[in-house]
Amino acid sequence: MKVRTDFVLKDIGQLLTMDGVGAAGVGLIADAALAAKDGKVVWAGSADALETHCSLSGNTEVVSAGGRVVTPGFVDSHTHPLFGATRQDEFAMRAAGADYEEISAAGGGILNSVKRTRSASDSVLRENMKHHLSIMLSNGTTTVEAKSGYGLDLTTELRCLEIAGDVAGEVPQTIVPTFMGAHEVPGEFKDRPDEYIDYLINEVNPRIKDQGIAEYVDIFCEKGVFTPEQATRYLAASAAQGFSLKIHADEFYDTGGAAVAVNAGAASADHLLSISDENIQLIAGSNTVATLLPGTALFLNKPFPPGRKLLDAGATVALATDFNPGSCFCDSMPLIVSLAVCQCGFTVEEALVSATANGAAALGLGGRKGVLAPGCDADIVIWDCVDFRTIPYHLGNPDVAVVYCAGLKVYST
Ligand code: NIG
Ligand code: FE
Repeated sequence: MKVRTDFVLKDIGQLLTMDGVGAAGVGLIADAALAAKDGKVVWAGSADALETHCSLSGNTEVVSAGGRVVTPGFVDSHTHPLFGATRQDEFAMRAAGADYEEISAAGGGILNSVKRTRSASDSVLRENMKHHLSIMLSNGTTTVEAKSGYGLDLTTELRCLEIAGDVAGEVPQTIVPTFMGAHEVPGEFKDRPDEYIDYLINEVNPRIKDQGIAEYVDIFCEKGVFTPEQATRYLAASAAQGFSLKIHADEFYDTGGAAVAVNAGAASADHLLSISDENIQLIAGSNTVATLLPGTALFLNKPFPPGRKLLDAGATVALATDFNPGSCFCDSMPLIVSLAVCQCGFTVEEALVSATANGAAALGLGGRKGVLAPGCDADIVIWDCVDFRTIPYHLGNPDVAVVYCAGLKVYST
């Protein structure tokens, strides 16, 4: 029996379904077509087979891709878009020789953003987030994870996540909110990180859960921030409260954060610039996604994450921007894909799968996002190129032509 459609994309020169079939998982189909109904993909395949499998009615919208490349929208599974002000002052200080950790130790860094987020109005927070989501959309990103973590007190963390929920209803993308109260130890708890963890577990997490405003919690496990023991304790308590887990791990030092993630059953361990060889094997043998953020390494002039080693070990690797006002002010997934290829040893195919299907896996959205197969959301990018390798090749200048979210056109050049 033929499947019904209300949207057909035809004349696709190269369709990358990311369904795991074809060269290195990109599921490449040349001369392809794709059909959707009610915002979901119902069929994708060779253009010749379209009419055999799909019924087109007078109401079916038929769009030509003009022989160009079509992919799923990017899934940016790690961003921090809820902040009161940018930090170009610190960027200039680093350019003049200061180090990121020195700036943080002197009261800059995350605590600088905390001050400016607590004092920001709701409308400033909302407009900042919306502004960057619209830039992300123009870069082909259709799903965005959004962390709080620049409030570090009950009032501001709740306010930020409520705003994220409001914004999610106003933008075309799918937003996945994460509570990151454990981003840093706030001034009120200076030198008392364990008491702050208790406060989060006993007073803040339950409120976030009651309001249903975050699916994930995240913690910054790093020398000078939270120890692996504190991270383990926080993640275990959060899991017991019903949250899914993420962790900022092994960013500047190998503290064993990746092992904390695996042992806690976290959905992902993120950053991993300094992950040990032993923990590469550990994460590769687990269900925890290794999320790499090469934009942060570039921005902070740190060594790039060991992408090739993780891929060779068999880890599921995702790529994301880490968009935030301090360590990576970058909204562009195409640039991240280029960095993964040019600096982290990914093939073009591996980088594109990592930025789509594997990003979805890091958010528990496998089978719904990042893939263009029947049943998945019709989140689609038409690229202004005829060879998919052009996507990372065209450095810093994404050739995004048209973006669809759930089958609706939401952006075009
Ligand atoms: O993911 N590493 C910790 N948190 C952010 C940086 C936040 C900031 O500098 O504001 C990150 O890189
Ligand atoms: Fe981050």
